[in-house]
Amino acid sequence: MMPSFTDRNPGPQDASAARTANKGSVDCIITKYNHRGYCNIVQSSMSPTRFPGEQLKFMYDVKVQPRFTVKSSIPRQLPASIDATVALLAEAEYLADRSLGTVLYLALKMGRPIFLEGEAGVGKTEIAKVLSATLGRRLIRLQCYEGLDVAAAVYEWNYAAQMIAIRVAEAEGEHDRARLERDIFSERFLIKRPLLQALEPDTAGAPVLLIDEIDRTDEAFEAFLLEVLSDFQVTIPEMGTVKAAHPPVVVITSNRTREVHDALKRRCLYHWVGYPSAERELAIVRAKVPGVGKKLSEQVVAFVQALRKQDLFKSPGVAETLDWASALSELDVVALDPATVSDTLGVLLKYQDDIARLEGSKVKELLDEMKSDLRAAE
Ligand SMILES: Nc1ncnc2c1ncn2[C@@H]1O[C@H](COP(=O)(O)OP(=O)(O)OP(=O)(O)O)[C@@H](O)[C@H]1O
Ligand SMILES: [Mg+2]
Repeated sequence: MMPSFTDRNPGPQDASAARTANKGSVDCIITKYNHRGYCNIVQSSMSPTRFPGEQLKFMYDVKVQPRFTVKSSIPRQLPASIDATVALLAEAEYLADRSLGTVLYLALKMGRPIFLEGEAGVGKTEIAKVLSATLGRRLIRLQCYEGLDVAAAVYEWNYAAQMIAIRVAEAEGEHDRARLERDIFSERFLIKRPLLQALEPDTAGAPVLLIDEIDRTDEAFEAFLLEVLSDFQVTIPEMGTVKAAHPPVVVITSNRTREVHDALKRRCLYHWVGYPSAERELAIVRAKVPGVGKKLSEQVVAFVQALRKQDLFKSPGVAETLDWASALSELDVVALDPATVSDTLGVLLKYQDDIARLEGSKVKELLDEMKSDLRAAE
């Protein structure tokens, strides 16, 4: 069984960490975190902890230093129009186009989950984080993986504590079995996982539930999600049905490594998150990497846009554009030249075949194309 993860310090200031770990080992890698222009991990620690059952849980304490502070963490009203939705996201430096603004506005207004599909690094996960930060709601994240089951996603009984309670009751001469059963299957012994937590009332308003990378789970888990997403309830055989008084704001993301079942999609509003236009990508770079010069930012965006037209195994996402802009600015580069591009291609492209395809005169060709595009746009 894969290990499952428990976040501490959840909320908008939490590092956006997708984590991987090797079963039975303490080797853990934080593989991804908010872009460095957005927040920096200033301290991190982890410790593997054995819980009842066979699972090995990795507890993380990740403290981050936010770069921007959303004006208020007081719960806010849902946006009243498409423009207000786009403006709300912009408060946390998320620059959405109108079609995304429309579908988000409708999802919030109609109380429907939103299903976001798109290539890696185009800003799917970030939408849930930004909604949580700007609406002042708690963010509850369920990171999906193959083998994810109800015990890791919904709830689990605390067997060790139940055993101790039974032993104590026996030692105290408790003979009322029905009472003991009622007691050990009560909320006190219930370990609530993300889906159950998302159904609980919150003074800040219904939380934002992020079900991230659903395409990594299997179909059995998807089928289970249907009950949760259509009725916002889960059934615990020993306790009964838990239903949300106010449905959470549900954001589901998928990288489309496999098709998600129609029954699940039908319950959601769908949006394909594509690569941004050059104009919007430039605005994103300027908002998120403020240190980068005007000329360099224009060249970076034009080059990445030209790169996406090439036949690559994996085109760079917005995340890579931001990384590249930051890397070049760290190197004090003011304008792109073939040698700098070739030396830093590893920030943009993560497959050797793609890098090899750009070797030789190709980089120079793309740079010339980029420069003439920029001249034409002036
Ligand atoms: N429209 C946007 N406005 C501002 N920032 C953006 C936008 N789109 C993407 N980003 C930035 O790009 C980075 C990657 O975003 P995110 O992690 O949400 O991508 P993703 O689609 O979930 O990727 P993956 O599929 O790999 O998980 C983040 O730093 C995010 O802030
Ligand atoms: Mg993501």
